This record gives sequence, structure tokens and C-alpha cells, in this order.
Amino acid sequence: MKIAMIGSGYVGLVSGACFSDFGHNVVCVDKDETKIAGLLAGKMPIYEPGLDALVERNASEERLSFSTDLPASVADADAVFIAVGTPSRRGDGHADLSFVYAAAREIAESVTKPMVIVNKSTVPVGTGDEVERILAEANPNVQNWVVSNPEFLREGAAIDDFKRPDRIVIGAEEEEAKRIMREVYRPLFLNEAPILFTGRRTAELIKYAANAFLATKITFINEIADLCEKVGADVQEVSRGIGLDNRIGPKFLHAGPGYGGSCFPKDTLALLKTSEDNDSPMRIVESVVKVNDNRKRAMGRKVIDALGGEARGRKVALLGLTFKPNTDDMRDAPSLAIVQALLDAGANITAFDPEGMDIAAELMPEVTMAGSSYEAVTDADAVVIVTEWDAFRALDLKHIAQIAAQPLLVDLRNIYNPEEARAAGLTYHSVGR
Ligand code: UDX
Repeated sequence: MKIAMIGSGYVGLVSGACFSDFGHNVVCVDKDETKIAGLLAGKMPIYEPGLDALVERNASEERLSFSTDLPASVADADAVFIAVGTPSRRGDGHADLSFVYAAAREIAESVTKPMVIVNKSTVPVGTGDEVERILAEANPNVQNWVVSNPEFLREGAAIDDFKRPDRIVIGAEEEEAKRIMREVYRPLFLNEAPILFTGRRTAELIKYAANAFLATKITFINEIADLCEKVGADVQEVSRGIGLDNRIGPKFLHAGPGYGGSCFPKDTLALLKTSEDNDSPMRIVESVVKVNDNRKRAMGRKVIDALGGEARGRKVALLGLTFKPNTDDMRDAPSLAIVQALLDAGANITAFDPEGMDIAAELMPEVTMAGSSYEAVTDADAVVIVTEWDAFRALDLKHIAQIAAQPLLVDLRNIYNPEEARAAGLTYHSVGR
């Protein structure tokens, strides 16, 4: 099959590379010439484990190519995927669909034969209808089918998530569209991945409902963690105790500094807009958004409290800046709010992150970036674990207690055992324990 992937960001690039690895012929398209030139030279625009090798193999075997020429790329495709960004619109929180509609218009002007146009971008309910209208208006004589196929991959585990998904959701209205989509995903059916065919609007909503539910689960356990601290309970044991109930499930019950990233914050806001527009209140999601925003700021105060209430002139070392491990993504990372709270309180901040420092340096110019964990920690009055990178899981805690100015560790991801940390000579604070 010939697939054109419009947009070579996280979702587009990973999906395109994985489809080519299944044997399809894929061209990944992007307007950004520097990005495409980089990809043609084997340089990845994002950090994602395993992606460079996957791209290299399929490019060298000529199943995967890159281009800035959208019309030429879509002309003889069997399926065209739209995988462009849908950021939060400044000011009102609606998903900004201008990139999706611009791509749809360009595709509409270039197609000359029947093909499926698949929305992989996360888009509010009804976007597929508008894409269909754009295509029909520009090209009344060609039959195209517009399909919704949301992507559930997680950064840092994207390739595995794509190849071994919990499910594939396909929102298609016509039999021919379903037939083509079955062909696109046939290699995954052989892996027995469950496939769910739904109406197009339903598929669009499934993506938002899934992300909002996961954000709710995290926020719920974060509030339970706060209560644990007040009543002397242990949130990790609470998570395990409730997660063993099959109806609840063990995942996404890890308490921490609040969720961040490219999806949960923007998708929860966009879902609230859809609920407002349709006069169908979603008070739970509304609370989740507020509680999570407050939590990120509260983590800065937690550090200041651990310092005895005064951070002015104190040196704070942050370990981890990205919103989660195995990515260089800083979008809506809790570290941004924590850094701001600490700077407002007059602290001096040093940080180390295995992949995120280049991007972070631009976003937080006041922070001194260190060359290693131990360099960051040297002479610090407080050490804060913000992101649970593997590299921070087996630090020499005794050494840290010695090289820090004050042996204080605030572990916002609960990656250390409190007894061990205290035995190493550290004053140890964590979340909900
Ligand atoms: C998420 C969804 O998981 C994915 O299905 C969707 O396609 C895109 O959004 P991603 O943003 O890559 O993926 O990361 P994820 O691993 O889900 O983590 C999101 C945030 O929640 C991170 O900030 C993470 O630290 C936080 N989190 C996650 C917790 O605080 N506790 C948990 O138990 C799980």
C-alpha cells in the first residue's frame, strides 16, 4: 500500500516509520524544510528510543521517504494520513485546527483518484465532517472517504505502543473506507490487536475520553497522596491495594508532581470546550484541570517548605526536567511551574536532565544546566527528583549526602525507599508517604 503521512512530528514520524516497517510504502511529508533535510540525512527531530534505527532501516530499504512536496506525495497514495499538530488555541483553550484544515485543503487540491483521508491528529468531534466538506468542495468529482483513527501511543514507548497497541480505533462511515483501513492495519491484525470500528464522531470522542479518564486517574491518586501525608498512610500501598481490583486496574495510579506533556493538558481543555459548546457539563474534568494546575505550583512550595520555609539565596538542584523519562519533550512539564515557584522565592537553581537540557535551557534561561547529576547536586541545599529517569534510580545517596551543602532530598516520583534514603544520611521527603 502507498501511504502519505502529512506532518512529521511525534505521531506522524513514529506512525510513518512503523507502517513502513510493516512493508507499506510510506512518504512522510512536512512543511519544515530543515526537518525534512535532517531526516533525509538520518537526523531525528525528536528523541524517541529506537526511532533512528527504525527510520534508517526502512529508508535504506526504500520503503520510507521524506518530502516537503505534499501534492506529489499524495497523488498516487491509497491512504493519506493527517498527523499535524492541534495545539491549544491561545486565549480560549479550543484545539487549534488551522493546521488540520490547511492540510485538508492542500490534499483536496492534489487528489485525483478515490482514496481514504485519515485523521490521526487528536481533533474535536465533528472535525472529520469539516474535512469531508473541504474535500468535497474542492473536488466534487472524486469520491474520498474521511476516517478518524486516533493514536494512543505514549512518548518514550511510542514504537512499541504503535506495534502492540491495546486497541485500534477506526471511525469510518463507508464499507470501502473500512476495507482500505483493514488493509492498512492488516499486519497488526495478525498480532491479534483488537480493532474497534465505530462511527467517525464516536472515534473522535474516544481519544478525548481516554486521555481525560487517564488524567482523572492520576489526579485522583495525587489527591489521595496529599491525604496520605496528612493521616500517615502510604500512597504506594493504597495504589496497590486499589489497583489489584480488576475494575480499577493498577496503571496510572502513580502519585507525582502532576501530569504534563503534549496530550493530557491540551486534550482535557479541548474536551471542556466541546462540553461547553454542547451545553453538556463535565464537572469532573473541570476539577481535574484545576487540581492538576495547582499541584504543579504546589510542588515548588513543597520544596520551599522542606528548606524550612525560606529559599532566598539557597541552591536547589533539580534532577529531571522533561515531563516524563525517555523524551526530550518539555511541553507543560511540571518542572516549568516548579522552577517558576523557586525563582519567585529567590532560589538559585541548577539542573540536570539526560535529554531535555537543550530545550529546557531556552525555556528557563535562569537555570544553570549541569553536566551530570552529581555536578548538579554539589553544594546544593536541596536536591529534587522531578522526573524518574532510570539514570536517577540508583544514585549513590551517601555520596550525595556528602557533596550537597545540606543533605536534603525531595523525591517527587517516589523512586527511593524512605528508610534507605534516611540510612544514607539524607533528610528525605516524598509524595504521599
Ligand atoms: C499520553 C497517553 O498515555 C497516550 O495514550 C496519548 O496518546 C498521549 O498522551 P504521554 O503524554 O506520552 O501519553 O505520556 P504518559 O506516559 O501517558 O504520561 C502523561 C503524564 O502523566 C506524565 O506527566 C506522567 O509523568 C504522568 N503520570 C502518568 C503520572 O503522574 N502518574 C501515572 O501513574 C502515570
